[in-house]
Amino acid sequence: MEQLRIGVIGLGEIGGAHCASIATLPQAQLVAVADLRTEVAAKVAASYGATAYGTADELLAHPGLDAVIIALPDHLHRAAAEAAAAAGKAMLVEKPLAVDAEDARAIVRAADAAKTFLMVGFTVRYFPQYLRARQAVQAGELGTVVSAFARRVNIVTQTDRIAGRVGVLHFLAVHDFDALRWVIGDEVASVHCVSATSAPLAHDVEHETFTTLKFKKGAIACVQAGWYLPTTHPAGFDFRLDLTGREGSLNLSMMEQGISIHGKGGTSYPYMASPLIAEDRDFVDRVLAGQPSSITGADGLAAGAIVDAALESIATGRVIQL
Ligand SMILES: NC(=O)c1ccc[n+]([C@@H]2O[C@H](COP(=O)([O-])OP(=O)(O)OC[C@H]3O[C@@H](n4cnc5c(N)ncnc54)[C@H](O)[C@@H]3O)[C@@H](O)[C@H]2O)c1
Repeated sequence: MEQLRIGVIGLGEIGGAHCASIATLPQAQLVAVADLRTEVAAKVAASYGATAYGTADELLAHPGLDAVIIALPDHLHRAAAEAAAAAGKAMLVEKPLAVDAEDARAIVRAADAAKTFLMVGFTVRYFPQYLRARQAVQAGELGTVVSAFARRVNIVTQTDRIAGRVGVLHFLAVHDFDALRWVIGDEVASVHCVSATSAPLAHDVEHETFTTLKFKKGAIACVQAGWYLPTTHPAGFDFRLDLTGREGSLNLSMMEQGISIHGKGGTSYPYMASPLIAEDRDFVDRVLAGQPSSITGADGLAAGAIVDAALESIATGRVIQL
C-alpha cells in the first residue's frame, strides 16, 4: 500500500495527539517531527521511529517527505505554511488558520500559488454527533433551521496553558463558527458579540463570550465560548449544540458520551470519540487519492472573518455586517 510520509511541526497538546493518531493509520507513516523543545522532539521521534528536528525549515528538508501537519501556536502558522507550500508539501494546518486575517489570506495564496493541498483542522466536523446533525439538516429531518445554540466551554487552566496567546474566540468559538456554517449550510451575514468582564483572568484576552450570528437565509445562532469550568469538572469540557427547525429539533451534548464512571476518584465522563483520527485519515486519504480538500482555505477564512467581526463587536458594541 502506498503510504503518505508525514511530518508534524509543533509537538504540544495537539501536535502530540496528531503523532499518536497518524501512528494508527496504515496508509500513513510519521517520518519526521519538529519542536523548538528539542528534547521533546527527540523523545517523540524515538517513540514513533521518526527523525527529530528543531524547526519547520529543518523538517521540510527531510528526504521523501510528502505532507506536514502544522500544530504550532496560531501566530506561527503563516511562516511554516508558506515554507511548506514553497516546498510543495500537502498541509493540514491547525485551526484557526491564523490569528491575523492577512496571515490567513497569505497561507491560502501560498497554497494556491504552489498548487498544494491545504486543509484546515476543524476537528469538530469529525465528531460523529456533529456529522449526524449535519445529515439531519441536509436530509430535511428538522425542516428549515430557525435557530441554533452552540456551547464550547473548557477548564479554567486553558488560558494559562496557552499563555494568553489568544482568547476564547480564536481558541474555541472558531470551531462552532465553522461547524454552524457547515451544519446549517449557509453563510453568516452579521455578528454581535459580548464578553463578560465580571471575573477577569490573568491574560488580557476575552475569556467568556456570547456571539450572536444572523445567517443570510434568516437563521439565528448564539455561540457561547468560555474557559471557566473548574479543574474538578468530571468531563473537563462542556460542548453542546441545539438546533430548532420548522419541523423538528436536535440536541447534542458531548459531555456525557454514553458512559459515566463513579469510582474512587469521583465521577468522570470518559472521552469516547476519536475525531482526530478521522480528521487525519480524511487528510491522508484525500492527498493520496488526489482529491480536493474537505475543509478548504476558504472555510478557514470564513470562520476567521466571524472571529474578527466578533472582536470588533466587543470593542465597539456594534453589530458587524460581513
Ligand atoms: N483541532 C483541535 O481540536 C485543537 C486542539 C488544541 C489546539 N489546537 C490548535 O493547535 C495549535 C497548537 O496548539 P497547542 O494547544 O497544541 O499548543 P501548545 O502550546 O501545546 O504546543 C505548541 C508547540 O509548538 C512548539 N513551538 C513553538 N514555537 C515553535 C517554533 N518556532 N518551531 C517549532 N516548534 C515550536 C512549542 O514548543 C510547543 O510544543 C493552535 O493553533 C491551536 O489552536 C487545535
